[in-house]
Amino acid sequence: MNKLDSELVVGNLQDLGYQQVASIEEASVILYNTCSVRQHAEDKVLTKISQLKKRHQHDRDFVLAVIGCMAERLGEQLLNDYPQVSIVTSPSNIYHLADLIDRAYNERVSDPEKKQLDNRIVELNEQADPDGLERLDTYRDRPEVAHPFMAFVRVMRGCNNFCSYCIVPHVRGRERSRPPQAVYDEVVRLVDNGVKEITLLGQAVNKYQFEADGKMLTLGDLLYKLHDIDGLERLRFVTSYPGNFDKQCIEAMAELEKVCPYLHMPAQSGSDVMLKRMNRHYTIAQYMEIIDMARELVPDVSFAGDFICGFSGETDEDHAATLDLIKNVRYKNCFAFKYSVRPGTTAADKFPDDVPDEVKQKRLAELLAVQREVSLEDNARLAGKRFKVLVEGLSKSPHLAAKVEGMADSQYPQLIGRTGGDHIVVFNGPESMAGQIVEVEIVDASSLTLFGKKA
Ligand code: 5AD
Ligand code: SF4
Repeated sequence: MNKLDSELVVGNLQDLGYQQVASIEEASVILYNTCSVRQHAEDKVLTKISQLKKRHQHDRDFVLAVIGCMAERLGEQLLNDYPQVSIVTSPSNIYHLADLIDRAYNERVSDPEKKQLDNRIVELNEQADPDGLERLDTYRDRPEVAHPFMAFVRVMRGCNNFCSYCIVPHVRGRERSRPPQAVYDEVVRLVDNGVKEITLLGQAVNKYQFEADGKMLTLGDLLYKLHDIDGLERLRFVTSYPGNFDKQCIEAMAELEKVCPYLHMPAQSGSDVMLKRMNRHYTIAQYMEIIDMARELVPDVSFAGDFICGFSGETDEDHAATLDLIKNVRYKNCFAFKYSVRPGTTAADKFPDDVPDEVKQKRLAELLAVQREVSLEDNARLAGKRFKVLVEGLSKSPHLAAKVEGMADSQYPQLIGRTGGDHIVVFNGPESMAGQIVEVEIVDASSLTLFGKKA
């Protein structure tokens, strides 16, 4: 979601004549789009902001804006603690960031004596124009991006789930689904500009619901509608929420060729006790029902998961249950994090952060080791299979050590791409293949990467 927001902001500013520069020293406008989901993400931004203190002491000629979830969470406090910050604005206000920059900037140039940005601005969610973001999404003009043939499209904003540990509902506000026609028009525009793969975004994307003509449209309906768009080759949706799961999106995955066989569905824990404390509204038995249904309906479906290690009260048994779940589901990959207390959440108020950091660290390492083993075994089984791969471009870190015969000394460079199931594939081919979907035969694998040759 943040990547999309950044792209929209950059595209909008470029439209208005702003140019990106190569280094921060050259910039007269500096934007940090921030995440609040863990303390670590916030600490990184605070370090970056602190690094601009020196420059601010002798140079008042730049505007520093902190945008996104951390801006919403900390608000005014960021201005108080950091005189170098001129704008603090929430995710809902990015549609008019250019106005805010103008305001901050004009104030300064109109008062050269002061050499001080005293028109410092805080704009939080409650001040946002509800239609503002819709305008930004709908009329997006893409800046130069690394992969012009892939794009994110937001279908929902906010989240109503209030998982007890999570800051997102507090900073991104209530769940709202975008009108299907607006999503459709945006996808058509992107496809007209060469996009082949669209990833639909929502914090709990499978809860998409939009009432039109007395009928409630769901994510499944939206997938069917978008599937007809000529020139669109692949559709994905992330992230799915396992509570109160409507299987229509899995049926769409089974029936529609363009919908990729990939389900990113965070479990967060393998223990029902933890899930209850996390306010997740499902049990592991219910989670496994969804997994089993997807396996039954969608051949070659792959799963990705998220886990939190060391949430309040997590015992060795709870942790062991998480490892068991990983072995049962056999995820393609997992994103795992140490629990980080977020002020203002239910967990911060009600549940002590009682798992010592070393234990969180140890459990995280164990979880990743189990996942690595699962990935390695499952990837090894893919040898000999053929997949359609959307080529992203040159592999940034050529896998010279790959055991694939001829790979290191091929006349072609190593390319990187992804299967429909989101497996990363490296193979040799001309750079001009970037953006094409080609068939690749898998020859070898590591836990993170498949190695192949053009079929
Ligand atoms: N601490 C650690 N991880 C968290 N996540 C969300 N909130 C927290 C937190 N307070 C993780 C969840 C979520 C992912 C985006 O971040 O696993 O799925
Ligand atoms: Fe946070 Fe839960 Fe919403 Fe995901 S579903 S964004 S973890 S509150």
